[in-house]
Amino acid sequence: MKLMLTALTVALAWALASPASAGNPARGLEISQVCQSCHGEDGNLALEADYPIIAGQHFNYLVRALEDYRSGDRDHAIMSSFARDLSDRDIRDLAAWYSRQEGPLKP
Ligand code: HEC
Repeated sequence: MKLMLTALTVALAWALASPASAGNPARGLEISQVCQSCHGEDGNLALEADYPIIAGQHFNYLVRALEDYRSGDRDHAIMSSFARDLSDRDIRDLAAWYSRQEGPLKP
């Protein structure tokens, strides 16, 4: 429930304030279903010891990481297969969602 409210709040804030290039966090949450088994709904899950927490990571870092997995510049069997079919819009929306979550990476 708290996450839903957060999602609604950020969606509204986004609609009012952000340029399209900043990504839509509400859509990011929607399309993150496939990511949640490993990263959790808010990016704080680290399913295995070597799985990264992505909640609160910088937007630009997340965009770059996903673009690099997609292009093959960053090679990882699991992530490359999940990033392969993401559009530019998907990547920005996912990054907008995860970068806004509270987590240990956020100062
Ligand atoms: C089956 C488990 C799994 C799923 C599903 C998954 N990931 Fe990952 N993800 C990983 C692992 C493992 C890594 C670490 C890869 C590496 O070492 O480069 C990772 C790394 C990442 C990173 C880089 C983090 C960093 O600190 O550099 C991002 C961003 C990311 N995932 C986002 C996503 C998104 C968005 C999705 C959904 C489209 C997704 N992941 C789906 C397991 C998963």
